[in-house]
Amino acid sequence: MTIEVIASVQACGATVTGLDLSAELSAADISTIRAAWLKHHVLAFPDQNLSDDDLERFTLNFGPFGDDPFIAPIPGREHIIAVKRSADETSPIFAEAWHTDWSFQETPPAGTCLYGITIPPEGGDTLFTNQHKALAEMPTDLRARLDGKVAIHSAGGAYGKKGFYGDNDTEARSMDIRPSDEALATHNHPIIRNHPETGQPAIFGTAGYITGFEGMDAEASSELLFELYRWQTRPEFQYRHKWQPNMLLMWDNRSVLHMATGGYKGHDRLLHRTTIGERTAA
Ligand code: SIN
Repeated sequence: MTIEVIASVQACGATVTGLDLSAELSAADISTIRAAWLKHHVLAFPDQNLSDDDLERFTLNFGPFGDDPFIAPIPGREHIIAVKRSADETSPIFAEAWHTDWSFQETPPAGTCLYGITIPPEGGDTLFTNQHKALAEMPTDLRARLDGKVAIHSAGGAYGKKGFYGDNDTEARSMDIRPSDEALATHNHPIIRNHPETGQPAIFGTAGYITGFEGMDAEASSELLFELYRWQTRPEFQYRHKWQPNMLLMWDNRSVLHMATGGYKGHDRLLHRTTIGERTAA
């Protein structure tokens, strides 16, 4: 089979065909996928038929597993979580807010793999926004205000006991989310970082997991964060991913923000997710 990488006509994203991901991949195939991933930031592999073993093996081609806190893994697996919603669920949609996965960790995951198992006939798209492009096209005055700033990241607003998925998240959920005081820990990262593999600069993170900037008071921090948020999520930087059953998606958390969307009331949705940890230097 010949590998084909077809770029989307949007701000990032590509579809990859000509590979059977349920089989072992050759070193050449892995390096083709890695190059496409670094270039397009989001890769979709349609028409795959993957078991959980296959999903784990695919993930490990690109780094170690990431550490996934606050959501219990599926039974029998340490590194797979279910992104799951039943047809009659009324709780707020999981992850329907811009973020990059686990940016509050000391070493956040390089990437995420998400495999579509039950996909609703409408809605449930995943949105991405290209943070290299958003930075490259940023107005100079906003750029000057961000240059050299260090952002404070925390999971508290989402997974703390008082957070979005905490004690007040009372509607029944299919997902096994486990809020914890550990979510209150903070880790800081430069708001503008060079991608560790390509060296290309990008904005890293957004309001939500970012709670403020080092050395700035709360009001000035939230003003700057809000202005940044409005810029980095503009439609011209976005890619809207439409799912199919048996499609694997792989994205680069160092290059994009993403968010889930709803619009599939009355339908089940189930995807299995792994994270790809950052590779350490040999
Ligand atoms: C996620 O952020 O991992 C979930 C994305 C989605 O459900 O579309």
